Formats: sequence, C-alpha cells, structure tokens
Amino acid sequence: MKALTLLAGLLPALAHAALNVTGSTCTVTPLPSTGSQEPDDTPQILQAFKQCGTNGKIVLTEGLFHIGQVMDTLSFNNVDIEIHGTLRWSSNIQYWLRSSLPVTYAGRSAAWRVGGTDIRMRGFGKALFDGQGQLWYDQNRGGSNQNGRPISLTLWHAKNVLVDGITWRQSQFWHTFVAHSENITMTNLDMNSTSNSQWSTVNTDGIDTDCISMKGNSSNVHISNVHCYQSGCAVIGSMGSNSAQPDYVSNIYYDNFTCTHSSNAAWIKTYSGTGYVRNVTFANFKFTDVNQPIYVTPVSDTHPPTSRSELHSPITPGNGEKESLLTLRCRKCIYGSSGCDSSRLKISDIRWINVTGTSRYNIGSAIHCSSAAPCDGFSFENVDIKNKDGKATKFLCSNIANQAKSGIPCTGTCPASWPQQLTGDR
Ligand SMILES: *[C@@H]1O[C@H](CO)[C@@H](O)[C@H](O)[C@H]1NC(C)=O
Ligand SMILES: *[C@@H]1O[C@H](CO)[C@@H](O)[C@H](O)[C@H]1NC(C)=O
Ligand SMILES: *[C@@H]1O[C@H](CO)[C@@H](O)[C@H](O)[C@H]1NC(C)=O
Ligand SMILES: *[C@@H]1O[C@H](CO)[C@@H](O)[C@H](O)[C@H]1NC(C)=O
Ligand SMILES: *[C@@H]1O[C@H](CO)[C@@H](O)[C@H](O)[C@H]1NC(C)=O
Ligand SMILES: *[C@@H]1O[C@H](CO)[C@@H](O)[C@H](O)[C@H]1NC(C)=O
Ligand SMILES: *[C@@H]1O[C@H](CO)[C@@H](O)[C@H](O)[C@H]1NC(C)=O
Repeated sequence: MKALTLLAGLLPALAHAALNVTGSTCTVTPLPSTGSQEPDDTPQILQAFKQCGTNGKIVLTEGLFHIGQVMDTLSFNNVDIEIHGTLRWSSNIQYWLRSSLPVTYAGRSAAWRVGGTDIRMRGFGKALFDGQGQLWYDQNRGGSNQNGRPISLTLWHAKNVLVDGITWRQSQFWHTFVAHSENITMTNLDMNSTSNSQWSTVNTDGIDTDCISMKGNSSNVHISNVHCYQSGCAVIGSMGSNSAQPDYVSNIYYDNFTCTHSSNAAWIKTYSGTGYVRNVTFANFKFTDVNQPIYVTPVSDTHPPTSRSELHSPITPGNGEKESLLTLRCRKCIYGSSGCDSSRLKISDIRWINVTGTSRYNIGSAIHCSSAAPCDGFSFENVDIKNKDGKATKFLCSNIANQAKSGIPCTGTCPASWPQQLTGDR
C-alpha cells in the first residue's frame, strides 16, 4: 500500500503526516498543538487501527496523543500495537458521560474497548495512559450519579491478548477491566491514581478505582508484576449482578502484585446470581496499609445496585453520606443480613499464596460464603498479615467447606452483615 498521508491535504505544511502507512505497518505521530485549541489524535489512531489491525503493526510514536473521542476497536486480528508515548484522555467530562461505551450492565462504561484475537499491546515502560482523573475525582465528590464515567482500557470479547509495560496515572475510573475474554496476559503494569484535592487529604482513601477487575465470562487470565496505589487492587467481580444471566470466571492467576494504601488487596465480590468463580490464584502479594486485605463476600440480594455509582461510590472513613448511599442500595444484605446466604454462585479452588503485608484495621481477612453454596477448595499458604499498629489481627470465616484443611487461621465467624468497606476496627 502507498504511503497515506491523512492530513496532507489539510495541513501541507506539516513536516510529518500524522499517519504513515507503509506495508502493513501504520505509524501515528501526535498532531502538534496549535494555539489554545487542543488537537484530537483519535481519528488517525482509529484509522491506523482500521488499516493495520489485521495481520499488521500499529506504532504510536513518542509524544503526547490527545484522545478526544471514544475508541471502539473490537475486530483486531493478529496485531502488534506498540505505544511509545502518552495517551491523554480529554477533559470534556460531559462528552465522556454521554458517549462512553457500555460494558456489561447499567452504569459501567469504557473510554476504549479492545477486542478480537491475537493482540499484543506493548508499552515498553514508556507508554503512559493519563485519564486526567483529578477532574473526575473532584466533580464526583458529591457522590452524584456517575453513569458514563469511563474505564480507561477494557478488554472486551478478546482472546489471546498480551498487555505489557504500560503505566497509568490519574485514571478516570477503573484502570482496566476484562470481560467475555479468554487467555489474557498482562504484565509490568504500574498504576497510580491518587487524588491531590483537598477532599482526599481529609479522607485519603476516598478513591476506590479498582486496579484490575475481572468480570463475568473471563477465563485463562494471567496478570503479573503490577503495582497499584490507592485502589481496590486485584479484584474478581462484581459477579452475578444480574441473576438472569450466569457469570463464569475460571483459571485466573494474579502474580506479583504490590498494593499500597488500598481498600483491599485480593478480593472476590459476588451478588446472589448464578454461575461460578473457580480456580483463582493470588500469588506473591505485598501490601501496606490496606483496609481489608483479603475479602470474599456476596454483597447483596434482591436489590443489587443498578448503576456503577451505586455500586462504587467511594466509602470513606467518616463520610456518612457516602456510606449511607451504599448501605441503602444493599440494605437487604449489609444491614438486614438477609439474602447473603442465598447466593448460588459457587466460589471454589481459590488460593492465596505468599501474601504478606499490613492491614490498616484489625482485620486480615473476611470471608463470608453463602450457606446455599459454601465455598470449597480455599487455601492460605504463607499468608502473613499483621495490623500495622501491632494489634491482634482477625481472620473471619463463614461457610467454608473443608475449612480445617484450608490453612486459614479462622478466629471467628464473618457475619452476613459484614460491610464491603471497613472504616475502623471491628
Ligand atoms: C513513512 O514511513 C516510512 C518507513 O518508516 C518512511 O520511509 C517514510 O519516509 C515515511 N513517510 C512519511 C511521509 O513520513
Ligand atoms: C495465549 O495468548 C498468548 C499471547 O498472549 C499466545 O502466545 C498463546 O499462544 C495463547 N495460548 C493459546 C492456548 O492460544
Ligand atoms: C502516586 O501519585 C501521588 C500523586 O501524584 C504521589 O504523591 C505519590 O508519590 C505516587 N506514588 C508513587 C509510589 O509513585
Ligand atoms: C514484580 O513486579 C515488580 C513491579 O511491580 C517488578 O519490578 C519486579 O521485577 C517483579 N518481580 C518479579 C520476580 O518478576
Ligand atoms: C456468560 O456465558 C453464559 C453461557 O455462554 C451466558 O448464558 C451468559 O449470558 C453470559 N453472561 C454474561 C454476563 O454475559
Ligand atoms: C487453574 O488455572 C491455572 C492457570 O491459572 C491453569 O494452569 C490450571 O490448569 C487450572 N486448573 C484447572 C484444574 O483447570
Ligand atoms: C512463594 O514464595 C516462595 C519463596 O519466595 C517461592 O519459592 C515460590 O515460588 C512462591 N510461590 C509461588 C506460587 O509463586
């Protein structure tokens, strides 16, 4: 194919065209900023994905790419995507709220969906995804409805994918999300979304951006070498939010995670839907100052939250307003204690191995399985969690089959009313 100069007609003065197609390689260079108007690099990136997304290679060079629009790229097939520069998502919150791409159920959406087969996305430690999240954290402080707040990168109906060497800063919402996908490997990721507004210095763990979350119908996923700051860290769920639709998650391996000052480190959250979570390993986790390091629970029964904001409004210590929003939606389970034991979503063969760190409160793990579908095949191997202030640490367990063989040093039962987020010692 001839060299294609997408903008040559428009801007003949440019030394380099934004998109250069040579054979099956598409190279995109960022548009220069002209005056106060921010350029939008999305059209030529999408063009590159379209032209070289099958049996090709897409190179985003060094420099700053302005992403002003959603990217829905679902039909890659045997592609290398090499990112050397920064992708910065625009600050046009109204646009994103309106246009983000839906994923799974009401309220969750993405700025970029990637799907297809045999996709290798490499960042070489140089790719930086900048969500300009501070704007999102600040305008979400009131706990108002945030349908449309986008997940940075979502793997959606994707198979045989490698994501390597990418850094995230100030993500708009969750950093990555995987759904309806198979054989996903993610390595060498660095994620730090820390609010520096006045709100967050009062409630420093206010931002609950999940670092990595695995949704329904994902299997054979391996994620390693990840450092998450101030987030949910490694998450499976929420699962089973729609009881009419079974969710299946199996063969997930989370390896070498570091979680700093997070709400959780390794957690599985399910609603009382159907399906299963099976064969999940959390290996080689190190963390400091985590509210509730290991946590497994069905979180609600007949009134699951119907939107992202209901489900994920940050629950911050001393912030009664936000806590009451969640407890209101999940009253059946959180305070009423009914329904938590009727989940038929079976959780089995879950290993926590080499999990070491400090908890913020006196809880090391809280595991409440449904009595209707007790958890089975749980194991702790070399799990060492200590309260950061040296208090005795509790490990709470309910409805774990073969508990004696699990290696979990259960110190008591985990009540059905156990809160999803802790705000103090229990
Ligand atoms: C396009 O890329 C090829 C290969 O890297 C290079 O030889 C050519 O000069 C480039 N063309 C433009 C217009 O930048
Ligand atoms: C899984 O994906 C990787 C690429 O990340 C690929 O090399 C491997 O062949 C895939 N495995 C299977 C069983 O398809
Ligand atoms: C994470 O980001 C915050 C705010 O930018 C910064 O203060 C903090 O040092 C970062 N953490 C690490 C370990 O880089
Ligand atoms: C673990 O992950 C960190 C990045 O968080 C990386 O620097 C380190 O090399 C990894 N360790 C191993 C054994 O791969
Ligand atoms: C998961 O897959 C099952 C079986 O293929 C399907 O019935 C179900 O709707 C899927 N769940 C979701 C959440 O898409
Ligand atoms: C469990 O998952 C791992 C990958 O994390 C896989 O290698 C193993 O074969 C799975 N075990 C079973 C019984 O499917
Ligand atoms: C657990 O840690 C030990 C000692 O560092 C190491 O030899 C072993 O491979 C680790 N286990 C796993 C499953 O990574």
